[in-house]
Amino acid sequence: MNTKISVSTLSADFSTMGETLKKLETCGTDMIHFDVMDGSFVGPITYGGQMVKNLRPLSKLPFDVHLMIEHPQTQIKFFADAGADIITVHYGACAKISESYLKDTLELIKSYGVKCGVAVNPDVPVENIFPVFGLADMVLLMTVFPGYGGQKFIPEVLDKIKKAREYALSIGKGDMDIEVDGGVCPENSAQIRKAGANVLVAGTSVLNSDNWAATISKLRQ
Ligand code: DX5
Ligand code: ZN
Repeated sequence: MNTKISVSTLSADFSTMGETLKKLETCGTDMIHFDVMDGSFVGPITYGGQMVKNLRPLSKLPFDVHLMIEHPQTQIKFFADAGADIITVHYGACAKISESYLKDTLELIKSYGVKCGVAVNPDVPVENIFPVFGLADMVLLMTVFPGYGGQKFIPEVLDKIKKAREYALSIGKGDMDIEVDGGVCPENSAQIRKAGANVLVAGTSVLNSDNWAATISKLRQ
């Protein structure tokens, strides 16, 4: 499977986000990763659909929207209308509401013609989301606890990645996107890919490097 690099804009300067996107467009980035935080599901607050809407005309790259928010169903329309290509919601935010909330939310995302993803935190067994592997276009295995960029990669998640890929294969979805997010860098990207992930989110390791294009190609090697 080809590796896709989704650069997280969380650690970018929001006042020059347009320029950042334009620069990323020329550096071999496959997707732009938007970290949406509500100050409740995770500590910080970042932005709503307006940010994605305003940036949409500036980039042809797929917008990979990561909702770290409570009650995600309330925001799907805003991000779908803003031009998101993929919207990922957290298992933890859905399971606390009801048994069917996660499945209903993934179906709601798809009803807008947008790809749907489900994310699990490092301490949540990947088996918890096996029931929606058939419905989801992508699963996101967090390799840090969400909320902040620049954290250290949690290597214990490598085993979850392997389990996720094996399960996808076992249900005939061997080529589904398995995304990893948090602490991804050239030093660990090979083992992440070897474990079975094919979409790598990278924020600080790219944006803090002195050559974005070189770092992105190293993440792919
Ligand atoms: C954390 C976000 C990640 C983070 C990745 O809650 O979901 O996307 O910004 O940033 P790095 O690559 O710096 O760990
Ligand atoms: Zn993210």
